[in-house]
Amino acid sequence: MKKFPPINPKCPHILHGADYNPEQWHPDVWLEDVRLMKLAHCNAATIGVFSWAKLEPEEGKFTFEWMDRIMDLLHKNGAYAVLATPSGSKPAWMSAKYPEVLSMKRDRRRLLHGFRHNHCLTSPVYREKTQIINRRLAERYKDHPALLVWHISNEFSGYSDWGSECHCDLCQEAFRDWLKARYKTLDNLNEKWWSAFWSHTFTDWSQVVSPSPRGEITLHGLNIDWKRFVTAQTIDFYKSEIVPLREITPDVPITTNFMGTYPGLDTPAFAEHLDVIAWDGYPYWHSPDGDAKIASSVAFTHDLNRAMKGGKPFMLMESTPSNVCWRPVNKLKRPGMHALSSIQAVAHGADTVQYFQWRKSRGGSEKFHGAVVDHCGHENMRVFHDVAEVGQTLERLDAVVGTSVQPEVAVIYDWENLWAIDDAKAILPDNKNYLATCEAHHRPFWKLGVPADVIASTYDFSKYELLIAPMLYMTRPGVAERIEQFVKDGGCFVTTYWSGLVDEYDLCHLGGFPGPLRKVLGILSEEIDALHDVDKNQVNITPGNALGLAGSYALRDLCDLIHAEGAEVLATYGSDFYAGRPALTVNRFGKGQAYYIASRNEDKFHEDFYKSLVTGLGIERTLTSNLPAGVTAQRRTDGERTFVFVLNFNPHAVHVDLGAEKFNDIKSSAVLTGTVGIGSFGYLILEKQQRR
Ligand code: GLA
Ligand code: ZN
Repeated sequence: MKKFPPINPKCPHILHGADYNPEQWHPDVWLEDVRLMKLAHCNAATIGVFSWAKLEPEEGKFTFEWMDRIMDLLHKNGAYAVLATPSGSKPAWMSAKYPEVLSMKRDRRRLLHGFRHNHCLTSPVYREKTQIINRRLAERYKDHPALLVWHISNEFSGYSDWGSECHCDLCQEAFRDWLKARYKTLDNLNEKWWSAFWSHTFTDWSQVVSPSPRGEITLHGLNIDWKRFVTAQTIDFYKSEIVPLREITPDVPITTNFMGTYPGLDTPAFAEHLDVIAWDGYPYWHSPDGDAKIASSVAFTHDLNRAMKGGKPFMLMESTPSNVCWRPVNKLKRPGMHALSSIQAVAHGADTVQYFQWRKSRGGSEKFHGAVVDHCGHENMRVFHDVAEVGQTLERLDAVVGTSVQPEVAVIYDWENLWAIDDAKAILPDNKNYLATCEAHHRPFWKLGVPADVIASTYDFSKYELLIAPMLYMTRPGVAERIEQFVKDGGCFVTTYWSGLVDEYDLCHLGGFPGPLRKVLGILSEEIDALHDVDKNQVNITPGNALGLAGSYALRDLCDLIHAEGAEVLATYGSDFYAGRPALTVNRFGKGQAYYIASRNEDKFHEDFYKSLVTGLGIERTLTSNLPAGVTAQRRTDGERTFVFVLNFNPHAVHVDLGAEKFNDIKSSAVLTGTVGIGSFGYLILEKQQRR
């Protein structure tokens, strides 16, 4: 286990700060801001995200003086700048003079000027203007002591509704070029897209255009290639943005703020181009789902971001100190939740806790979005105190910086697979729930306090003991082979219904499902049944099975009707015409084993099943005792020092058994062992005492 260097060696501390928009305020306010930043124990500010109109008010006329002052003020007050490139929102003069920078929606209507994140990323003008301003920024601040990290643009998303995805002629041309590189010939494209369907065969490259509700949306090969292209084009734009930054500031790390599990861009594919991963997290705390469930979903996304660079600490680039302003119900964070959710990020591997926004805007659509500093303007506010308290705690965590976790468990969550699943017209069109299913297979580990990675199917599997691929509908090139190898070498693999159906072109595997996974799983899937909510069935566990499971579990939505072809049957369906047929199997293959869960089972099944696997495989739990409901324990280590985070997402106090080991409580400096109490929405950060 290694220790990673800090995000930028200039600052060996956990970063704490917020998106700061001084361009919206009078310079007198800036002085007050830095006074308040100190009081809030903030050591960073993200600036420039939406500053283009202020930095270049007229084409080619640059006004950096105000930003010079901000950079200086931050530095004098002991804070660093996460400096953004301004391409998330363009100045009005640009749209007026160069309409090509305005993106075009799926219906081929060009957008008007306004809003944000809605530029044509192919447009040579937009790329050129972005490079010019980025070069100026880099030249101006390359030696500034406050410059810590580059923050590229803002929340690339690939969404058509917002205009991020562009369908203009320039983009169509670029799409065709991308396709030509991929398929070489039109015949090949026609074959891979199965375009004989409904007579959609292309006879000239110029006929190939992006999907549109007014045109082609029925060729799944086209649909998924368009999504791949949108990701590729966004990465290409990002790469063009960073050219001057790499040249002028080669030592300053570069990131962009990802959007969690938003489906628009293949985030893991983008990740390899970043120096450090950053994401923006806005969990729906205190909503009817319950905070424990929400916390486990957030944990899933943290684990996804951590895994994108093999465990390297990531940045929580944005979170709200209190409420957001864009949900149907914008609840305040209950006392304790702000600190708890911030420490949760650190527990899963974040080396920063950052917010949107520092100071509430006075006008505009985000004027009632939570902020560290309210319209009231002073520090005597509940939220400000909460933020300052988090800052104080983070100041005690220098030793945590750069530590990580190398989980023994990984759950595959794959964007290309998601796109293909969502596009399929089959089974339960509105209820395929790929993300929720992956979360349901990750949650048991959160409850057990077992760290787990969330990975794309393109990642290396060999470092894990247990690999789980819920609904692996699409097997991308080489994935099935690597799964087979993983099991052969002694790994434990788990997959479910609706796996191994299509290849990378979204073409069905012929010759029996689950296609290339059939051998390793030792089963054949013949049909899949979809259930109404009122339909009842259950999984009956075969008595005396090696997992130590017993009784029966409820199921819903989907039942795969499989035949065991060498696999051992561990459970069978309870009713319907397929009563008695296999519902859970295990195949021993090489030195390992491969499980197939044929139906969508209740959570209790996942809890019991994975607990049994964790015990059987000897996978380490962060604490050896059983944790109360709504509580998790996560760990970070560098191999020498180990930090344990115990997080209570209940609105009531709990008792947690730390076992016989001794821990130093980072906040109170007390030595803790045995049973300890944790308050409502409370947490403990503990360091394991070294055994001498
Ligand atoms: C996103 C954006 C921010 C802000 C917040 C509000 O994360 O990046 O600029 O709009 O949402 O929640
Ligand atoms: Zn375009």
